[in-house]
Amino acid sequence: MAQRIDIKDLDVYYGSFRAVADVGMTIEPRSITALIGPSGCGKSTFLRTLNRMHEVIPGARVQGTVLMDGVDLYGSGVDPVAVRRQVGMVFQRPNPFPTMSIAENVLAGVKLNNRRISKGDANDLVESSLRGANLWNEVKDRLDRPGSSLSGGQQQRLCIARAIAVKPQVLLMDEPCSALDPISTLAIEDLMAELKDDYTIVIVTHNMQQAARVSDRTAFFTIEGTGKPGRLVEMDDTRTMFSTPTQQATEDYISGRFG
Ligand SMILES: Nc1ncnc2c1ncn2[C@@H]1O[C@H](COP(=O)(O)OP(=O)(O)OP(=O)(O)O)[C@@H](O)[C@H]1O
Ligand SMILES: [Mg+2]
Repeated sequence: MAQRIDIKDLDVYYGSFRAVADVGMTIEPRSITALIGPSGCGKSTFLRTLNRMHEVIPGARVQGTVLMDGVDLYGSGVDPVAVRRQVGMVFQRPNPFPTMSIAENVLAGVKLNNRRISKGDANDLVESSLRGANLWNEVKDRLDRPGSSLSGGQQQRLCIARAIAVKPQVLLMDEPCSALDPISTLAIEDLMAELKDDYTIVIVTHNMQQAARVSDRTAFFTIEGTGKPGRLVEMDDTRTMFSTPTQQATEDYISGRFG
């Protein structure tokens, strides 16, 4: 069920500004790929092209190809809504719907997709998604309390439960732990390690230790200066990237020498 993603000659624009240029990479299924690089190099922009969220910004467009198991996400006849169902996203700040209960939050994506499900199936899906997100034991006795009654780390796991409830094949995570304390961060990292058995995961992180701990492959992006596009410098097995990268720019960045 997890998917392989092949990106070729990808350019990403905001109006006439080319924010990301010339990206080519392969994202392996059932693995975690980390995207690292300095602020403004286009990590979030690139990530959003993988589920067609980029184009919702007025004037934003994409050139090049993104193949998911060989199918071009940008091909004519591809429904962006179907793509977003297949490729889920978790954001930097946990964003549960505050007035919805914990259970309703889990089901929110499924309901948006207009899927009608019986009460029994809904209850099962709430449980399996919360178990999948490693949150079930903490919330099973208060499923009707608001999502906003949870701690930050629990809210982020609730958002992961909401994302996996629609049974996506790919999970995109944009700095999912940056608003969390170290204990919650470790809980999310453990969870990612479990989820990669079933999903293709792409995570943006500023935390080098996190990239080194959780990811199988790491891609380093950089930017030459303001107004210039971000580019992929290199991508390799995480262990290689953090021990013997081939590019000086990568070495400088991971060792903290980036100016
Ligand atoms: N909605 C937008 N409209 C116009 N330009 C944008 C928009 N969003 C981002 N950009 C620009 O695109 C470039 C890449 O931004 P992006 O947010 O992808 O970087 P990033 O690598 O995720 O940075 P950070 O690490 O700070 O999150 C930046 O120059 C940014 O100003
Ligand atoms: Mg970003």
